[in-house]
Amino acid sequence: MSNTIQKNLNYKKYVVSSKLQYFKLHSSKTEKTFAEEISSSLNHDSKFINPKFFYDKKGSDLFEKICSLPEYYLTRTEISILRKFQPELSSYIDENFRLVELGSGTSVKTRLILDVLTQLHDSVDYFPIDISEILTESSEELLKNYAGLHITGIIDTYEDGLEFLKNFDKKKNLIIFLGSSFGNFSPNDGFEFLQKINSTMKSGDLFLIGLDLIKDKQILESAYDDSQGVTAKFNLNILSRINAELDADFNLKNFSHLAIYNEEKQRIEMYLKSLVNQSVVVSKSNLLLNFKKDELIHTEHSHKYKLSQIHELLDSAGFQIKHTWLDDNKYFSLTLVSIKSDP
Ligand code: TRP
Repeated sequence: MSNTIQKNLNYKKYVVSSKLQYFKLHSSKTEKTFAEEISSSLNHDSKFINPKFFYDKKGSDLFEKICSLPEYYLTRTEISILRKFQPELSSYIDENFRLVELGSGTSVKTRLILDVLTQLHDSVDYFPIDISEILTESSEELLKNYAGLHITGIIDTYEDGLEFLKNFDKKKNLIIFLGSSFGNFSPNDGFEFLQKINSTMKSGDLFLIGLDLIKDKQILESAYDDSQGVTAKFNLNILSRINAELDADFNLKNFSHLAIYNEEKQRIEMYLKSLVNQSVVVSKSNLLLNFKKDELIHTEHSHKYKLSQIHELLDSAGFQIKHTWLDDNKYFSLTLVSIKSDP
């Protein structure tokens, strides 16, 4: 208790306008730097790069492009489910809800939910939580389109942002976590994350999670290895970023993008594959790396689920399932839950 109060004091409030404010941690956490993380994650026999480093400006732009690729069915399918079930979703919500979004790069989806909330009440609060800067042009755009909207950004991790909100006021939260981003966690981390979300929710709060479903291997693999090569560029961009920010000399022509579906582990595994025997210097991480031909750097996992697994997972993390919506192809799912003690 005193811990959380203490923590809230560490946030600094920035007021941009009467409709736009944000909270940012005053004292920055002791986080490893990019150079330190790379130094420990590449200095191994099994090399990896933390996928959070995908999202520099160029990476975020490429990711936007991925979301509208013909092969990447996830975004448009999730949007179609939201469109179709807006009226049903509204039956679970009343005028006392505000929208809390984990991540904030999903403005079309955000809008579809805001449409539901603004139909119930003229004035709506939207709290995006994100570790990186969230008050971009998209906030300004949202404020132009929704007259009664108030945006309060929380710049922190999802877990700590929710903890902050728990002590902020008593308003009901509709928390959304879309795009199957949950599938990028390892099963262990994912489960702990769900339990953590659960522990920050109070009676009446709702959580809407979008998860990708198991389907034909070919469809899955092309969603993560498109014909225009945008996903390949996105994956390789992480090496450009290391070159630029950590003074390294990766030759991008000597690496290729690889996405394979691991049926047993139910996940797309993404790698950068070294095409030749080569060495690379990463000056700011004090690394001289030797890659063998065909050696892999792991960059991302994207887990896929059976509907029954989603329900079991949410149930064992302490949630009560309210409803799951699917598209006609059963490609993607949106599940609405509350904490278990709720009616
Ligand atoms: N959450 C997205 C997903 O798992 C992230 C993603 C999509 C991604 N395409 C990617 C991550 C390509 C790395 C590379 O579908």
